[in-house]
Amino acid sequence: MAIPLLDLKAQYKTIREEVLRVTEEVYESQIFILGKRVEDFESDFAAYCHSKYSVGVSSGTDALLEALMVLGIGQGDEVIVPAYSFFATAGVVHRLGARPVFVDVRLEDYNIDPAQIEQKISGRTRAIMPVHLYGQCADMDAINAIAARHGIAVVEDAAQAVGAEYRGKRAGALGTLGCFSFFPSKNLGGFGDAGAITTSDDAMREKLIDFRVHGMRPKYYHHYVGGNFRIDALQAAILHVKLRHLDSWAEGRRRNAQTYAQLFAEAGTGDRVVLPRELEGRHHVYNQYIIRFDGRATRDRVLEHLKSKSIGCEIYYPLTLPQQKCFADLPGVREAYPSSDIAADGTLAIPVYPELTKDQMAEVVREIAAAI
Ligand SMILES: Cc1ncc(COP(=O)(O)O)c(C=O)c1O
Repeated sequence: MAIPLLDLKAQYKTIREEVLRVTEEVYESQIFILGKRVEDFESDFAAYCHSKYSVGVSSGTDALLEALMVLGIGQGDEVIVPAYSFFATAGVVHRLGARPVFVDVRLEDYNIDPAQIEQKISGRTRAIMPVHLYGQCADMDAINAIAARHGIAVVEDAAQAVGAEYRGKRAGALGTLGCFSFFPSKNLGGFGDAGAITTSDDAMREKLIDFRVHGMRPKYYHHYVGGNFRIDALQAAILHVKLRHLDSWAEGRRRNAQTYAQLFAEAGTGDRVVLPRELEGRHHVYNQYIIRFDGRATRDRVLEHLKSKSIGCEIYYPLTLPQQKCFADLPGVREAYPSSDIAADGTLAIPVYPELTKDQMAEVVREIAAAI
């Protein structure tokens, strides 16, 4: 039996009636962009994230881009980002004419290493952008302390971490602005592209609302050069339905992570398969369940073996950000980022979606044990 990396059809079966009802309501209303449905979703999403406000946008990438624009980041500025993340984290900085300054990650959680941030801060640094990679929050107390010392902003890339917690507070409420992606494979996934930005600052929220519509208020009076970062009413309506199920889905992912830990222990894979670890004070939501091998050769062998058995798996991400061709001319890309290199060479994502059965997980573990 094939085991996909993610089975969205299984999830859809459980919410089909609710989704069809609200989408029908949107069709009947013929209000497709922004409007009351978006506002209703925004207020519940903000509350879910322990934040005062949320502003729905067109994607996670646009959430990051708009957040940096609202902070006035541009030409000549620098933004600290982890050397290992999805491309958008650094791409948005570059698009604004600012420079992504890379900092290595820690292998214990694949997140930016706070101990290496301060040495990369210069007079041009305007923000730190930690990523809560795979669904576990970065070390936000340490990051916020550094940001406060230097008077710079913290933009959380919480694209993979909706519902994740750090010392009892949720992702999106841990920095100056929080950026979320509702790409379908995220724990809260839309039926297309969408995203959101969270903030508890009233003035920032007003700016976010204006920047989302080309910096205008009222209509056709433009105070800033923003963009079209609007969210569709259909996405907001569907996300609103899904939001009510999010915690139970996250619990399913956490349960599966525990089951994997037990199954790998029983299989005796030991330190040949490094499992994800929930760090102290964190609540991991396992957007991805990432395992690590001793290097590229083993990882690629396991990948090929799982594929031959129709077991879904994926490399997130095969290259570090400083290794990307489009960044080859940036200063700093030839510095060493040893932990990021190890992560890019040795990691593999395996299925962890909530509908997965224990038998399926046992099969995944059996095949991995057979391939190492
Ligand atoms: C860490 C991270 N940042 C940013 C993004 C961008 O989100 P989107 O694909 O919705 O533009 C993603 C999602 O792919 C992501 O995983």
